[in-house]
Amino acid sequence: MPPKQSYSIVALPGDGIGPEVLSCALKVLSTAGQLFQIDFQVEEIPCGGHYYVEHESEWPAGSFEKCEQADAILLGAVGHEVSGKTVFTKPGKPYPEPQLAGFAQVILNRQKLGLYANVRPVKLYPGVKHKIHGLLKQVWDADKVDYVVIRENTEDAYTGETNSIPDGQVTPIRITRTATERVVRYAFNLARRRGKQHKVTCVDKSNIIGAHRFFREVFREVGAREFPDLELDYAYVDAFCQWQIRNPERYDVVVGPNLVGDIISDNGATTAGGLGLAVGGNIGDEHAMFEPIHGSAPKHAGKDKANPLAAILAVQMMLDWLGTRHEDSRLHRAAQQMCGKALPFRFRNQKRSLALTRLPPRQSERNRFASCRKAGGLPHIKRQSRGAIWVCSPAALRSSAGSSGPHRPLSSNSSPRFCRACLPFCASTDKC
Ligand code: IPM
Ligand code: MN
Repeated sequence: MPPKQSYSIVALPGDGIGPEVLSCALKVLSTAGQLFQIDFQVEEIPCGGHYYVEHESEWPAGSFEKCEQADAILLGAVGHEVSGKTVFTKPGKPYPEPQLAGFAQVILNRQKLGLYANVRPVKLYPGVKHKIHGLLKQVWDADKVDYVVIRENTEDAYTGETNSIPDGQVTPIRITRTATERVVRYAFNLARRRGKQHKVTCVDKSNIIGAHRFFREVFREVGAREFPDLELDYAYVDAFCQWQIRNPERYDVVVGPNLVGDIISDNGATTAGGLGLAVGGNIGDEHAMFEPIHGSAPKHAGKDKANPLAAILAVQMMLDWLGTRHEDSRLHRAAQQMCGKALPFRFRNQKRSLALTRLPPRQSERNRFASCRKAGGLPHIKRQSRGAIWVCSPAALRSSAGSSGPHRPLSSNSSPRFCRACLPFCASTDKC
């Protein structure tokens, strides 16, 4: 598709820390728009569990249609608690059975917009530490954690159906050929584009769940027939949870049914610096929605301490996807520049008052980041050799005084608040 004059983005802040992290990410988007002269028309739609509590509906009427018409969607997170309990919809309002309030945004958008591949990179950047026993330590080696989880995104245990039986309830696991073929093809094609281990691992529970056996069979068939150049690899999800911690270097592209992908992407995030850095793209042939995968984390909400980096990386992934879809080099340049400076090379406990910190480039830290080149919608990181890296805390992103200090303000406008050198900055302690 040709480049557009203007790109329409629907932003769904949602619940908990969702609005906090998304507001930082939208500042980055607006700065990217200014720097690269791209017009983004952003419409924020209130939604999720807190909206449901007030309105008995998960978002205003006509919101799904707006998502359908948008060029891309950015989602914060959904999941709201009242008195420590997650809010579910009431029977008949709007679904026959109760669902997580926020179901429309996260699950129905994935299903109704055909966002069949949930692309969740597990990549550890040099210098990013791991939070273990409450302390930040280097546990995994950066060159040994670099794979992508492709999560089937429309079915498995996520159909929204639950039926009563005399002594309980049954939630079905549905796997169809159509949904499986398209997602495994996405995974195989990605392995080709990455050109690393030429290997795709199918992760499931096919020793017990018949429908997962079908998933694995379809994976095997499509792989053998259409991708003879690739190695097909298999793991049961329980064992995989161990191997992805002990030997992440074994993996290149990993594909699995929906619930399996949900769990292994969070587990993998531990090895890549934590959920505060983990980003996901819900990708279809016509639409896409990008989100931090950490969820709404109600206990951290309103404290101004959630790490917005995953949401910022969601913007980066969105720019990259839009750039490829519309053959628009401005979007790719914006995505590359973000990648170039966005990635944190050091996590440490910053005091809130230490809003902006310039860390001198040390030899060991210089060759780290990275322009990003397009790899079919995925951020693909290369090293780059120079430049100091600015680190802004989440507080700085929100503060109105962010342009004080030694850096150059981007413009005399009051917004955005951060300087060119900071674009698109941002590392903070990983508290999510
Ligand atoms: C995710 C989330 C969602 C999911 C929840 C909020 C329904 O955990 O995007 O990973 O399970 O898909
Ligand atoms: Mn999840």
